[in-house]
Amino acid sequence: KILILDYGSQYTQLIARRVREANVYCEIHPYDMSSADIRAFAPKGVILSGGHQSVYDHNAPELNETAMQLGAPVLGICYGMQLLCRHDGGTVAPADRREYGRAQIQAEQPTPLFEGFLDSGETTVWMSHGDHVEIPPAGFIINASTPNAPVAAFSNLERRHYGVQFHPEVNHTENGERLVRNFVLDICGCHGLWTSGGFIDYAVESIRQQVGQDRVILGLSGGVDSSVVAALAHRAIGDQLTCVFVDNGLLRLNEGDQVMQTFAENMGVKVIRVDAEEIFLSKLAGVSDPEKKRKIIGHTFIEIFDAEAHKIDGARWLAQGTIYPDVIESAGAKTKTATNIKSHHNVGGLPEEMNLKLLEPLRELFKDEVRQVGLELGLPRKMIMRHPFPGPGLGVRILGEVKKEYADLLRLADDIYLEELYASGHYDRISQAFAVFLPVKSVGVMGDGRSYDYVVALRAVETKDFMTATWYPMPYELLAHISSRIINEVKGINRVTYDITSKPPGTIEWE
Ligand code: XMP
Repeated sequence: KILILDYGSQYTQLIARRVREANVYCEIHPYDMSSADIRAFAPKGVILSGGHQSVYDHNAPELNETAMQLGAPVLGICYGMQLLCRHDGGTVAPADRREYGRAQIQAEQPTPLFEGFLDSGETTVWMSHGDHVEIPPAGFIINASTPNAPVAAFSNLERRHYGVQFHPEVNHTENGERLVRNFVLDICGCHGLWTSGGFIDYAVESIRQQVGQDRVILGLSGGVDSSVVAALAHRAIGDQLTCVFVDNGLLRLNEGDQVMQTFAENMGVKVIRVDAEEIFLSKLAGVSDPEKKRKIIGHTFIEIFDAEAHKIDGARWLAQGTIYPDVIESAGAKTKTATNIKSHHNVGGLPEEMNLKLLEPLRELFKDEVRQVGLELGLPRKMIMRHPFPGPGLGVRILGEVKKEYADLLRLADDIYLEELYASGHYDRISQAFAVFLPVKSVGVMGDGRSYDYVVALRAVETKDFMTATWYPMPYELLAHISSRIINEVKGINRVTYDITSKPPGTIEWE
């Protein structure tokens, strides 16, 4: 396994993705990870991430001495390379100009890091730096250069220290994936055994060992993560698992039935379906503030889930679909100060007094790995490749006060929209698409008569991380077709609009 020490680069998670793509297990830890933890982790190689500081800054994060003493190969990326350079006795200096964007590197002396893609000639890389290595440490050879960064890559084969000024983890670096493979497989000697099949065997075994004969509860939402946990835990412990599926009346069309069919009927998972539409809608009556709605939905979910959980005798464990980005994020959240734009009430926040131990079998996986595992466990592709759906569901897609009448109209319109996106092949190219209900009436003409009905807005965005997003350029003909289907088939809606707001300044959801 590989240890990635994080020096604060926005790309650190991408490094981990690249390592995992080579089927090698890795973890990201803060650069000042303790000696004891590093030794316990016992990595076969270390990658030092980039960072936004200069190694000369006061308080600049320092090289982790323990990681250097392991004797394992080290790859420094950008800031990581500069740290390595200083540590081994070279000099780093501010470049004449900051370099940001694509650059061509020219091959110099060969290195195993570039094996198979850069023996001579040039390749395109992604640069983002202010400082650069000026004089490499003694014993290092220069492997690549650019006019602006004469030492774009260096190495000391004996010590097995490698540094690159560019970012191999970023897609724009043409052979970045190959470079990371070369490092983890050939240089560090990792075996590439981290596959979804291998993960399932290991997870099944460890779930069995952790829970023994105890019973486990899982809040099943129908989303990707909780679904994969359900399938995995069911494979491990069968009937010791009970899933609680709370239907809050704010789900998409037929969603509840589909969840029951997939899990209870097809897979034989024990699922308790709680029909709680009335409770949710009555608590939401008269409330139009988005944050208040989120809180009510979150709290009501917890109350209901808690009550159901207490009915399950001898339950000692709560399984959750926490995934690796959640783990990294909550570790980072302690130090970051972010403005609270939305409270993102999720099904995660269950009360501590439930007194259950947590079972989080997906803690180590990235989203695409979770999907891969889900497919391998036999979950339907449509469920696994689904766009994200917020915890509060249609509750934040009906603007203002939530009413059953509105939810029913929205469900029908949304279903037509998604059906057409699937049929036209656009669904998989879009990151998230949904319809929004606007509780305003506008005038129209239908047949011979006047209509006075509600409005639906269609939203579709493309994004990698959901932090920023651009609106999806939907073909006009498709929009025309969807619009006329919705207006003809959903009685009560007579106008459809398409949202052309990116994020920022908009958010993805309307509330
Ligand atoms: P925004 O609207 O903040 O959405 O741009 C970013 C992503 O988060 C989802 N989202 C939520 N997910 N509970 C959730 O579980 C929430 O309250 C919530 N609000 C937004 C949204 O669907 C998008 O994927």
